[in-house]
Amino acid sequence: MVVVTRPATEPRPTPSSPYRRGPGFRVSPHAVAHSKEDVVKVQKVLVAGAGQMGAGIVQVAAQAGLQAVMIDIADEFIAKGMAGIEKQLGRAVDKGRLSAADRDAALGRIATGLDVSAGADADLFIEAAPESIDIKRGLLEAAAGVLRPDAIMATNTSSLSIGVLSSYVKSRARFVGIHFFNPVPAMALVEVVRGPETTDETVVAARDFCVAVGKTPITVKDSPGFVVNRILFPMINEAVQALSEGVASADDIDTGLKLGANFPMGPLALADLVGLDTTKAILETLEHDLGDARYRPSALFDEYLAAGKLGRKSGQGFYTY
Ligand code: CAA
Repeated sequence: MVVVTRPATEPRPTPSSPYRRGPGFRVSPHAVAHSKEDVVKVQKVLVAGAGQMGAGIVQVAAQAGLQAVMIDIADEFIAKGMAGIEKQLGRAVDKGRLSAADRDAALGRIATGLDVSAGADADLFIEAAPESIDIKRGLLEAAAGVLRPDAIMATNTSSLSIGVLSSYVKSRARFVGIHFFNPVPAMALVEVVRGPETTDETVVAARDFCVAVGKTPITVKDSPGFVVNRILFPMINEAVQALSEGVASADDIDTGLKLGANFPMGPLALADLVGLDTTKAILETLEHDLGDARYRPSALFDEYLAAGKLGRKSGQGFYTY
């Protein structure tokens, strides 16, 4: 197979960008293994984080017949995550898309715990913790200490460098980004992000896992915002700025993009879904790592965040929930 190396598309250089090119960046993100002999088949997944993303990943894994362990730092977060999964599966039963027996079987495949030792025998670890490098570092180091040496380790980060995060695990070769989209059960895409030292076998194992849980993977280079967020979030930011400038009401901006561009939901409703804090953090990371002011978050984010309006999760954002 001829692996086509794309022309140099370096991120705009910034002195502190974690994305400055190292030799590993010259590997094509599209390269895949020729043989699957050494590829780990994932049968059990350990997910750190019981929030929107973590619980969603656990749900789709359990529904696909995999064993899933969901951990978080407190029982209340686990309980909230499980309640969300039960609600989603219950809706699927009500709609006649899932039998009650299959719902119960899926729930029976989910275990929970308060630290990584609850899933030490997992084939795949995915951290889906908040976008804090310190929190992720702690989790990755702890997981690397208990998992089998052949286990794949992954991060669901939407904005941090896979290369930087890979420095916290024992095997950078077995470390990969597996980036799901929100809401996980409804969104078909996963970005599989190749870090500087990720092997073809690890990329194949990650892609196979995505397919096994019903998703379509794309393989992406470790670059700020990967593909989707890099393109999507400036658009959301522009909608927030248009609102701030009084161009139109939130409803009219969203209706404009829904009916004028066939978006399933408007960009302001989408910001509420993602969370205004997360949306702002992603834009800040893009601005910093790409070194380009056009990603700078609209000042309107600060007003909403200062008022505790985080979007759906706080009951109030651009809309009331
Ligand atoms: N959790 C789980 N499943 C959900 C859900 C939720 N919060 N909301 C909706 N769904 C599911 C429903 O169960 C339903 O499933 P079925 O078709 O199997 O019945 C399906 O999604 C459609 O739901 P609805 O009919 O109730 O509503 P809809 O047709 O308006 O779709 C939507 C809802 C799927 C959220 C749709 O509006 C949409 O696709 N919006 C865009 C979402 C998007 O762009 N996400 C990416 C965000 S960026 C990101 O995630 C990256 C990051 O790093 C932060």
